[in-house]
Amino acid sequence: MNPTADVSAPLHTPVSAPVKVAVIIGSNREGRFGPVVADWLLGLLRERDDYTTEVVDAADAGLPTALSYSPTPEVTAELAKITPKLAAADAIVVLTPEYNHSYPASLKALIDWHYEEWRAKPVGFVSYGGVSGGLRAVEHLRQVFAELHAVTVRDTVSFHNAGASFDDEGRHRDPAAPDAAAKVMLDQLAWWASALREAKAVRPYGS
Ligand SMILES: Cc1cc2nc3c(=O)[nH]c(=O)nc-3n(C[C@H](O)[C@H](O)[C@H](O)COP(=O)(O)O)c2cc1C
Repeated sequence: MNPTADVSAPLHTPVSAPVKVAVIIGSNREGRFGPVVADWLLGLLRERDDYTTEVVDAADAGLPTALSYSPTPEVTAELAKITPKLAAADAIVVLTPEYNHSYPASLKALIDWHYEEWRAKPVGFVSYGGVSGGLRAVEHLRQVFAELHAVTVRDTVSFHNAGASFDDEGRHRDPAAPDAAAKVMLDQLAWWASALREAKAVRPYGS
């Protein structure tokens, strides 16, 4: 021990800027419910000072399922709407419904059109659906994001029978439990985002 050291000084004083989170609305179905769930989450994010938020909506980007290393000008224009937001993000929240025990094709296309944008970033999930609450979609997505060198956080938010859980104005009828679940997920996501941001500043992720 150095006897001249100022023992009252903290060993490490973190200087942490707000986490930039990209909230992905994964469905693009006509008449979709996704925006209702997104509005609920965005309301919670607005109340937090540890996040700044961008929305990436699969319905805004008309991405084809046919991938290409030399996309047409039309596809390049669609990518330009979303790729910069994903690239700038420290963290991702994926909003996914469940379609036939998995996640929608629109979300898979959005994921597959990108690669570097996911690497060494944390991903949280909000899922919704019928009986399942989208839980099977989330478990499939964990495998996908592992392949992309992303880190999925443990806790999720899921809405079972989602349509009946919100009123006609899009307000959750009993928000205490989902709000609490969202806090747990967002707290974990912020921890991982800050930890990975600091780690990447010292040692860029390379493998
Ligand atoms: C093609 C399709 C398949 C579905 N499969 C399931 C399912 O396997 N499990 C489930 O709980 N809900 C299922 N649902 C219900 C959806 O999860 C629910 O309608 C959800 O709101 C769809 O999200 P969206 O409205 O944002 O498109 C399915 C809906 C569609 C359209």
